[in-house]
Amino acid sequence: GKGKWNKFDEKDLLLTYNALKVLEARYLLKDPNTLRYIETPQMMFRRVASYLAGVERQYGKGEEEVKRIEEEFYKVLSQLKFLPNTPTLMNSGTRLGILSACFVIPVRDSMVTPNGEGIYDALRAMAVVHQQGGGTGFDFSELRPKGDVVASTAGVASGPISFMRIFDVSTDVVKQGGKRRGANMGVMHVWHSDIEDFIKAKTGQLKDVQLQNFNISVGVYDYFMQAVERGETVPLINPRKTRINGKDYEYYIVKARGYMEEEWIQEEILRELEERGGSVYLDESVIITVDEALAIAEKEGAITRWVNARQLFDEIVKGAWDSGDPGLLFIDAINRRHPVWYLGKIQATNPCGEEPLLSWESCNLGSINLEKFVVEREGRPTIDWEGLAETIRYGVRLLDNVIDANRYPLKQIEEATKKTRKVGLGVMGLARMLIKLGIPYDSVDAVYLSYQLAKFIYYHALKASIELAKEKGSFPAYDSRRYKDVWESAMPFDHLISIVGVEGKVSSDVKKLTEVVDRLDFDQLKAERIKHGIRNSTVVSVAPTGTISIIAGTSSSIEPLFALAFVRNVAVGKFIEIDPLFLAYLRKYELDDPEVVKKVAETGMIGENPFMPKTMRRVFRTAHEVSPEFHLLHQASWQQWNDSGTSKTINLRSEEPPETVERVYLLAWKLGIKGVTVYRDKSKSQQVIYFGIKK
Ligand code: CDP
Repeated sequence: GKGKWNKFDEKDLLLTYNALKVLEARYLLKDPNTLRYIETPQMMFRRVASYLAGVERQYGKGEEEVKRIEEEFYKVLSQLKFLPNTPTLMNSGTRLGILSACFVIPVRDSMVTPNGEGIYDALRAMAVVHQQGGGTGFDFSELRPKGDVVASTAGVASGPISFMRIFDVSTDVVKQGGKRRGANMGVMHVWHSDIEDFIKAKTGQLKDVQLQNFNISVGVYDYFMQAVERGETVPLINPRKTRINGKDYEYYIVKARGYMEEEWIQEEILRELEERGGSVYLDESVIITVDEALAIAEKEGAITRWVNARQLFDEIVKGAWDSGDPGLLFIDAINRRHPVWYLGKIQATNPCGEEPLLSWESCNLGSINLEKFVVEREGRPTIDWEGLAETIRYGVRLLDNVIDANRYPLKQIEEATKKTRKVGLGVMGLARMLIKLGIPYDSVDAVYLSYQLAKFIYYHALKASIELAKEKGSFPAYDSRRYKDVWESAMPFDHLISIVGVEGKVSSDVKKLTEVVDRLDFDQLKAERIKHGIRNSTVVSVAPTGTISIIAGTSSSIEPLFALAFVRNVAVGKFIEIDPLFLAYLRKYELDDPEVVKKVAETGMIGENPFMPKTMRRVFRTAHEVSPEFHLLHQASWQQWNDSGTSKTINLRSEEPPETVERVYLLAWKLGIKGVTVYRDKSKSQQVIYFGIKK
């Protein structure tokens, strides 16, 4: 109503100019007839808080309690301490019902199937999800290779890449109601016969031309990476020709090779083998060896070729160096650290990689703005750990409510999502937090802080989910004995540092700053989980926060600042941005002269600028000044304390050679990262963010 407009809300003053522009262009509701705005930013936060708190009624909460929870939700949102992903902000309480950003849809080797999992069923599912602002991931490795036979028509198969092009065109056409274009992840596992074509699908002449709505990733396994290191050959397989499909075949090789040596996996193999009774992989009572498995595949005629693993890897590296694609997904790391591993094998992730999901699962995300938790105490900046813990608690409750508030476009999605109740609490504003604390991003101190923050957040998110289980029950597929506590396999900090081989020690200041983390008792938490259950099968995930970080006015995700001044090209126009923290520092040193700012803006960085104060040069490190090793160390730190994935771009300078990409990909595997992507500056014609103003 009109009255509401007269109530100017001061909290809107927290929003930056860019935040207002983005909100105005895409988030604030308009009257469909007059196209006039019918809400302010605060009204949007209120709409989200009230809609999501309303879910509590389904769990028998009284009105007073519902109102209290609404106020808590509203508080964290309006203070920009926590924001849910875009679809939740856009669609809560509106006619559109999808509130989640991440989906994985299966693609079977058939046009359509009775249970809706064929190629064209997947296409339809994708369109419905995109229409409402969700992103989709697919594994195309079940599709028979190009040139293979099609029995029903006695014809020749087009192969996975041709089909991917249809998904790509459809994405172009369905523009998500004009609000944002759909994003996809296309995965092919490294054993597929068409893998070489897949690797080249977006590079060379096809760069900036083909599959522009896809990120593509090769699904690699430990056996493959080891074969790369040893220069061995690996088989390429036609999935149509094996009695159990190629993926399972691969999985068995991996298992049989003993890379998944843990007892729980062994148990699982035996159980599966029992269920499959009589399958070729059951050799009386023992698991067959790789050689035996290969002999069988050979007999079946499923092996099309043997290729040198090293050569295949070089092609991947060349592609990524040239265009950013393909990235890698480490399928073993993903499945080894999946809490509900017993529900099946994960083959794919959502578009940006932070959510490895089972077929038909969806996940909703939300991120904590770390910058907001830097506070002054006794004249020094420090971290408000208590405030952080409280925000995590409400964040997890809000994300869990999204699962119930969602109106699912397909019943398979609803079933899969409600079975595991995955949510992804992540972060944004790490870089700005570090600057406020005076810690350079590319320092051992900063990596240690990442590691400790991730541990703290994971602990409190698990705790919140256990509390919710007491109140509302565990996720339906919870099995107390088989649920995997993935924190048990987190690599120690020193181990990460020694793998990468960087110099330096953690300072006593930063040790002291994060002391509270060392006191967390994970064993006690496990005891509580066993006693009370847990509400969500995964609780954390580090998303890119591309738009919500603009709304929050902070740096995105766990990335370093991109540039101290830059031009940002987004759907609604071009922005020239000067980092406000940087400006504040310039003022402090009385350097806020327009000429100085203009000069800095030419390159976007000050690391090499001898006229800038030393402190500033140390602390204001940008993405291309940070070495790939430090990029990876941050990603690895956040991945250790995390039951899903960590989205991160390893930004490289344009002059970096392909060898750097090779080093990054190998290190990422060794650091236990679940997926890796590089982006070499200027390697694509269309870049969202450009360096400096003069370009
Ligand atoms: O900041 P925002 O909530 O808009 O999204 P993000 O953190 O940058 O991306 C999170 C996820 O949203 C991605 O991994 C995709 O699954 C999805 N997404 C999408 O589908 N389309 C986009 N244009 C951007 C993100």
